[in-house]
Amino acid sequence: MNVILFGPPGAGKGTQAERLVSTFGFEHLSSGDVLRAERKSGTALGAKVAGYMDSGALVPDDIIIEVILARVLKASAEKRSVLLDGFPRTLVQARKLDEALAKAGTAVDVVLSLVVPDGLIVERITGRRISPSGKVYHVKYNPPKVPGVCDETGEKLVQRPDDTEAVVKQRLDAYHAQTEVLESYYCAKGVLKQVDGTQDIEVVARQMSDLVRAFAR
Ligand code: AP5
Repeated sequence: MNVILFGPPGAGKGTQAERLVSTFGFEHLSSGDVLRAERKSGTALGAKVAGYMDSGALVPDDIIIEVILARVLKASAEKRSVLLDGFPRTLVQARKLDEALAKAGTAVDVVLSLVVPDGLIVERITGRRISPSGKVYHVKYNPPKVPGVCDETGEKLVQRPDDTEAVVKQRLDAYHAQTEVLESYYCAKGVLKQVDGTQDIEVVARQMSDLVRAFAR
């Protein structure tokens, strides 16, 4: 099964991915996490994408398509269910994904679109804290038991460098200019399901799980 988690920056994709992975055992492919791991490892690819990410722009299609499709195809070949988070983000990426899946004899089953207005995004992103191993918190909406410390690992929580108000505005601009159009693309294919992402995290998680169950085949 191939599921896409879709929505603007800070809509809750990573938060919901964590829950869907634990319920359904998906292979989680987060394009942002893949790019951040490349940067952390100091690879040539990491150096190439750093400027785009830090400014809030999308990285070029050819780079991200190569990186993500290789992982999607590997998972498909191994018959694993995939949860895509942050990819695709442009029409070019969406079409390449469809082509690659069709060649592998499969398709996108459902696109879970988190609907959150821009007005909520800045507060969500500037209040986000993450553990070095990737667990997501929010100082107000999803706080750790001890402020600044991961509940699971005891690691110190940090802020992403692109989680400043100025960069969030650029990321939102990129979303509206290049990514939002994918809602119509997937709606026309009959696979788009919208979920109100302003609800409580666990309410959103239940609704998403119900949708995944309905589409499981
Ligand atoms: P990426 O890492 O994908 O960032 P993003 O899409 O901007 O998404 P975020 O990770 O910021 O947010 P999220 O939706 O996962 O929200 P979260 O669950 O953390 O991409 C980073 C960069 O990489 C891009 O800018 C681009 O440069 C590049 N890139 C990546 N993919 C690319 C692609 N395909 N093409 C080109 N470039 C690409 O939640 C946010 C906060 O809100 C958290 O604190 C959370 O606790 C809180 N929260 C979540 N849900 C709720 C709720 N229901 N109520 C209250 N608070 C909530």
